[in-house]
Amino acid sequence: MPRLGVNIDHVATLRQARGGTDPDPLAAALLVELAGADGIVVHLREDRRHIQDRDLRLLRDILHTKLDLEMAADETMAKIALAIKPDLVTLVPEQRQELTTEGGLDVAGHRDRIQKIVSLLQEGGIPVSLFIEPDLAQVKASHRVSADFVELHTGRYANMRRSKEADGEVEAITQAAKLSHKLGMGVNAGHGLDYRNLTRLTHIPEIAEYNIGHSIIARAVLVGLDQAVREMKALLS
Ligand code: PXP
Repeated sequence: MPRLGVNIDHVATLRQARGGTDPDPLAAALLVELAGADGIVVHLREDRRHIQDRDLRLLRDILHTKLDLEMAADETMAKIALAIKPDLVTLVPEQRQELTTEGGLDVAGHRDRIQKIVSLLQEGGIPVSLFIEPDLAQVKASHRVSADFVELHTGRYANMRRSKEADGEVEAITQAAKLSHKLGMGVNAGHGLDYRNLTRLTHIPEIAEYNIGHSIIARAVLVGLDQAVREMKALLS
């Protein structure tokens, strides 16, 4: 059964909306774990718009599952990761104006810079995942920089309303997952996945983990975090 990593950035976004202490993403993380999630994902952005350094530090201490830190591929962030030692770092592209991560990392186009950060983290004992488009050239480039995992960007698939349109994108994700697996990298997937569009991807056996944020936290506002996580876990079983 594929694993479920839950991104709790939106809980921190709600807290930052009033600049106070509620809701605390730490409390959310513990509830998410109790509901059966296999890991917690947070994105420490350069502008600290949601998750703060304090959250990361404390999450490292209290989690019973796995902490996956999403961050930009730069040295300042790498230093923070080396001090915190998450179970996995996922390198993502980061632009200041974006609402959320848009598009995958161009590993093929920025090979030297990404290689440097991957090596720094791996030398510190942290496995590294690269968030890439489901594109075979990017999969090969990820393998060349010795990534331990790829996370296939499912945003384009998720944005396709009609299932016929999505066929080509499902095929691209399938082929990218197969090649990544064949090259010895672990395969994760995420972005824009929800309670409806997830099931089509669960037929791809190479995908070992799904990282999902928005749809779970949005549903949690209505039905509670415990139920929202359990329902998503059930779709993976
Ligand atoms: N994976 C990565 C690398 C991401 O950047 C995000 C968004 O922060 C997600 C997964 C989760 O996406 P969503 O919130 O759309 O489920």
